Amino acid sequence: LFIFDGLDESRLSLDFSNSEVVSDVTQKSSVGVLLTNLIKGKLLPSALIWITTRPAAANQIPPSCVDRVTEVRGFTDPQKEEYFRRRFSDEEQSSTIISHIKTSRSLHIMCHIPVFCWITATVLDRMLTTDQRGELPKTLTDMYSHFLLVQTKRKKNKYDEGHETSPQELTKADRNLLLKLGRLAFEQLEKGHIMFYQEDLEQCGLDVTEASVLSGVCTEIFKRESVIFQKSVYSFVHLSVQEFLAAVYMYHCYTSRKTKVVEDFLGGDYSYYSYSSLDDFLKRAMEKSLSSKNGHLDLFVRFLHGLSLESNQSLLGGLLGQTDNSPKTIQRVINNLKKMNSGDISPDRSINIFHCLMEMNDRSVHQEIQEFLKSENRSKKKLSEIHCSALAYMLQMSEEVLDELDLEKYNTSEQGRLRLIPAVRNCRKARLTAVRLSDTDCEVVTSAVKSNPHLTELHLDLNILSDSLEKLLSAVQESPNCKLKTLGLIGCELSETHCEVLASALKSNPSHLTFLLV
Ligand SMILES: *[C@@H]1O[C@H](CO)[C@@H](O)[C@H](O)[C@H]1NC(C)=O
Ligand SMILES: *[C@@H]1O[C@H](CO)[C@@H](O)[C@H](O)[C@H]1NC(C)=O
Ligand SMILES: *[C@@H]1O[C@H](CO)[C@@H](O)[C@H](O)[C@H]1NC(C)=O
Repeated sequence: LFIFDGLDESRLSLDFSNSEVVSDVTQKSSVGVLLTNLIKGKLLPSALIWITTRPAAANQIPPSCVDRVTEVRGFTDPQKEEYFRRRFSDEEQSSTIISHIKTSRSLHIMCHIPVFCWITATVLDRMLTTDQRGELPKTLTDMYSHFLLVQTKRKKNKYDEGHETSPQELTKADRNLLLKLGRLAFEQLEKGHIMFYQEDLEQCGLDVTEASVLSGVCTEIFKRESVIFQKSVYSFVHLSVQEFLAAVYMYHCYTSRKTKVVEDFLGGDYSYYSYSSLDDFLKRAMEKSLSSKNGHLDLFVRFLHGLSLESNQSLLGGLLGQTDNSPKTIQRVINNLKKMNSGDISPDRSINIFHCLMEMNDRSVHQEIQEFLKSENRSKKKLSEIHCSALAYMLQMSEEVLDELDLEKYNTSEQGRLRLIPAVRNCRKARLTAVRLSDTDCEVVTSAVKSNPHLTELHLDLNILSDSLEKLLSAVQESPNCKLKTLGLIGCELSETHCEVLASALKSNPSHLTFLLV
């Protein structure tokens, strides 16, 4: 049995299309080639292989090589509460914390990640037990800003008892260290890395002695993970902490006009960016994140928006630098988000535009959708694209499974309809008729087919699907969760290959597919 823990953290490129066959255990080859041969069953064919990974990296392995997929999910709603009740012996305190989290939808949803519960508990415990109570954090940016501060202060209490600084302030040394960590966080986030080596640290001006001091002091933010082959491996305690520090660093670079960094990130012309306004900067960062295939910049760009609010900057005083963030500018940022047209961008990515609005404390879209969901005349009400993203998100996250999602029933633009597609993940019947599904949209439908055990009917009539239909059909055939009974493909152009895959899906044992409408 081979166990490979953390495929997402691996820097090996696995090329399954490479046909180099290694079947002899004495033959020398590169680790990547050995691994692909092992996974394909060419090398040690009777060996069992167990690979752990975050979902984003799982598609590196072709489905034909996978016998069984097990998904580890985070906390359910009752488990979230149980966590806080167990963590605090004081019942009143745990009740206060639980009811606070329930008031903020984004915090409550994030609590399905156990580490986020721990971060929340750390911050709220500190705030509720000291006299500088202030308003409890309601957004993610707010929560992570407090977290950074709490951890930096904890470090001070532990190691610099002699030097009294104002408890609310970061010292110059703190700021320097956090910015170096921020640079590391950002540069590695762009590359998709969450584990770093000494040379990565040194490249950001963090010397290892400082870092080892750090891994002693800031163990709650950054840590030395393990030693593999006598090489230390470092990481942030959680990817979200890396994403937050990366945003702090990028915001700092923008305000202090480190144009080279901003330009390299956004692409474009040096002199232009040195004068660009905050709303322009955020718009470009948002666009960049939307074009990411796997959403690796989603949380980063959410934090970037949250950090632009003056009210949140005071907390991290000095770290972020200053720029024009007058109410007028902030309103422009909000308007840009509401108008943002995502073109051929995954409807999953578009939902992040809504998250950014929430992070900027603009609840208008959220409220309008809540009213929409309560209203009786749903089909009449005109929905903008951002409304559709918000609605898709709420339907997708709802504890109730939607009976039928029929895109024709919504009064919105063609783009708006496509933005509703993520809701297929939480409904029983889906009608996506004549909406010109792109490959990107079809990927979301495929992921819904794989993960939604309630979905029994899917109608894709009058769409041109070509290659993406093949992927969808193999998901129907191969996914253990898929309980699809009826598939409607009326007026879709089916190729010979499509028909072959369909026939085999209809014949294959685990497939529940029984009705085919063509
Ligand atoms: C961050 O900004 C929001 C919106 O203005 C505000 O409600 C919150 O209290 C701010 N956080 C802090 C710590 O000041
Ligand atoms: C639904 O809309 C129609 C026309 O817009 C209106 O006459 C009717 O009163 C509405 N019904 C409800 C229950 O709001
Ligand atoms: C869609 O909304 C617009 C604007 O409110 C309205 O004029 C139109 O009648 C609605 N269309 C349908 C089909 O309900």
